[in-house]
Amino acid sequence: MLKLPTKLNPALINSSTTKTSGKTSDENTTNGKKSVIIKLENVRKTYANGAVGLRDVNIEIYKGDFKFITGHSGSGKSTLLKLLYGAEQVTDGEVTVNGFNLKGLKGNNLAMLRRKIGIVFQDYKLVPKRTVSENIAFVLMAQGYTYKEIQRRVQPALKMVGLLHKADCFPEELSGGEQQRTSIARAIVNTPPLVLADEPTGNLDPDNAWQVIKILKKLNSFGVTVLLTTHDEQLVRAANHPVLHLQNGYII
Ligand SMILES: Nc1ncnc2c1ncn2[C@@H]1O[C@H](COP(=O)(O)OP(=O)(O)OP(=O)(O)O)[C@@H](O)[C@H]1O
Ligand SMILES: [Mg+2]
Repeated sequence: MLKLPTKLNPALINSSTTKTSGKTSDENTTNGKKSVIIKLENVRKTYANGAVGLRDVNIEIYKGDFKFITGHSGSGKSTLLKLLYGAEQVTDGEVTVNGFNLKGLKGNNLAMLRRKIGIVFQDYKLVPKRTVSENIAFVLMAQGYTYKEIQRRVQPALKMVGLLHKADCFPEELSGGEQQRTSIARAIVNTPPLVLADEPTGNLDPDNAWQVIKILKKLNSFGVTVLLTTHDEQLVRAANHPVLHLQNGYII
């Protein structure tokens, strides 16, 4: 079983997160212009059964943005995120994320892109037989980080989500909110410049949902770009970030 040190170096939270994006908010610009991190051009997604996920979508997201994606069930929110991390391929059009053109991207290149994206799901997707620390450390192990570097990174990630005291608990010993915060720690432990969250608050009560938003806002303040889907209009209003609204596969 992986044993992690209990001593914390708080400085790592800032240093690692800043390094994550490689940029602070002010550095997310080139020659005074904001840099594009995500671009969709004339994107259409039709699934094999004929269902349409997205229709003629054109979007630019800039580094350091925090954007909500809203829309009714079936409007294409998850489809949009899946195209960004390569879980689905476009039918037509172009998707570029962090400098990678997603068309035909697979194998090592797709793995390289995914290392630059933290993904958070509604249902947490934690490994039940592993502790909180281990769930987070796995990401780094799979990417070949040294044991020392893993130790250096896991604790700040846990601190960021307020779960240092639960490091040795198993997922079933956590509340829903704590499980979701663990999954956020896992998403950010390798300090990606982009976080995609598909209904991360969908299973949470309002207090826990707001905690999740606060963590994502904090990450965003370090320069991390955040895209988050939700049905929760109250949360969107309270968080006060721009909204991309999808309706029947179209951006409204
Ligand atoms: N794997 C799939 N195969 C076929 N059709 C799919 C698939 N995934 C999604 N769809 C269809 O694509 C459309 C958009 O689905 P998507 O999951 O993107 O919606 P959503 O906005 O995320 O909805 P929800 O709020 O319920 O999560 C829907 O009509 C859906 O039925
Ligand atoms: Mg969805």
